[in-house]
Amino acid sequence: MELLAKIRRNTAKIGVIGLGYVGLPLAVAFAEAGFPVLGIDIQQKRVDLVNNGCPYIADVSRKALKEVVRKGLLEATTDQSRVKEVDAICICVPTPLTKTKDPDLTYVIGETETVSRYLQKGQLVVLESTTYPGTTREVMLPILERSGLKAGRDFYLAFSPERVDPGSKNYSIRNTPKVVGGIDGKSTKLATQLYSQIVDKVVPVSNPEVAEMTKVFENVFRNVNIALVNELTLLCEKMGMSVWEVIDAAATKPFGYMPFYPGPGVGGHCIPLDPYYLANKAREHDFHTRFIELAADINERMPYYVVSRISDALNSKGKTLHGSRILVLGVAYKKDVEDVRESPSLKLIKLLLEKRANVSYNDPYVSSVRVNQNDLSSVELTDERLTSADCVVIATDHSCYGYRSIAQKAQLVFDTRGATRKLKSKNIIRL
Ligand SMILES: NC(=O)c1ccc[n+]([C@@H]2O[C@H](COP(=O)([O-])OP(=O)(O)OC[C@H]3O[C@@H](n4cnc5c(N)ncnc54)[C@H](O)[C@@H]3O)[C@@H](O)[C@H]2O)c1
Repeated sequence: MELLAKIRRNTAKIGVIGLGYVGLPLAVAFAEAGFPVLGIDIQQKRVDLVNNGCPYIADVSRKALKEVVRKGLLEATTDQSRVKEVDAICICVPTPLTKTKDPDLTYVIGETETVSRYLQKGQLVVLESTTYPGTTREVMLPILERSGLKAGRDFYLAFSPERVDPGSKNYSIRNTPKVVGGIDGKSTKLATQLYSQIVDKVVPVSNPEVAEMTKVFENVFRNVNIALVNELTLLCEKMGMSVWEVIDAAATKPFGYMPFYPGPGVGGHCIPLDPYYLANKAREHDFHTRFIELAADINERMPYYVVSRISDALNSKGKTLHGSRILVLGVAYKKDVEDVRESPSLKLIKLLLEKRANVSYNDPYVSSVRVNQNDLSSVELTDERLTSADCVVIATDHSCYGYRSIAQKAQLVFDTRGATRKLKSKNIIRL
């Protein structure tokens, strides 16, 4: 197989379609390994930034990007017809939900139609976007075969989910095992070899459906366990104990337990969305994924619960939410990242604004956000702001915050993340 030899020699040209949180780090990883890489995105601005060596994703280092662009190993373009030039195509486009929380495959289908238009004999196509089991074979394959080429004979097709952990200092593309499932043996072999060039451990599975299910299962697992601990939080509050102390104590068990932490909800592009992909597909089989529905129900109620607890805390000081100055710390969906997609902090701000609270926020990673029709900008975290706020809400526990100093200055702190759990202070209320 000519393509297999090219992959082994790192000379196969790789096309990465969609240069976002998943695609840009992947493109840089292939280029750093010596592969010539063509990145394709519909946003001209992103393409220009890549070609100028300017990363817009925190996990991509400026030095690494500049270096691969300077060496001519990575080039970006908006010209989709150039997929003709590449040997392997990795598709990393978004997979959002519709307003009614159904899978929205518009990007995947649209891009597959484009690839089909320019598909060449011998090319390998790999979908990396998270989706429901069946997407690669039932949705993509027929579209690609409209090219007149036959899957498994003229071109190869596989699914390999991305497992990036944004903001992580411990896990990178290199040391995160990668699951691969092709529509046939040849496709699996090619895709396995491709990722083996940049990942220490590749895990081939029987087919794309298993690979697709693996990814959604991983995210459902997180979502369900977060919901479990969120529910326990509500009970602990009623029983007058600290859920944080319970979790820390349980985490001393060296086997059979894994800590998950409560919070104001779940955010990001994966955990709140992907379970719905599976729940929706399951209905085709007259099957109801009850854990998924229950977890979504519990997690989606958390911002409402947090707002009611803040309201109670203010009430105990003779204040109402209406008119109170609330300073929200952190609007990114998790600590130390700049991503606000589906962030529970935004939901909290929305609910607080609806209660007519006077809301401001600080986030060193996010300079502005739009909540409903309101444009908010991050305010400076001054002593004056901390002391004058009726309540400081820790919504995202960024590492850079000085929690001891915040707790000393604020009149009241509502901590949704356990960031202050080592501190003893009467003005701190925790989830
Ligand atoms: N962000 C994560 O942490 C993460 C982790 C694992 C898996 N995923 C999955 O990976 C996929 C991509 O997520 P992301 O976070 O990188 O999204 P993103 O929004 O950061 O990036 C997607 C990119 O695709 C581009 N794009 C959209 N349509 C295109 C098209 N037709 N042609 C070329 N470019 C196109 C967009 O302009 C954007 O730059 C999703 O399915 C997501 O669920 C994301």
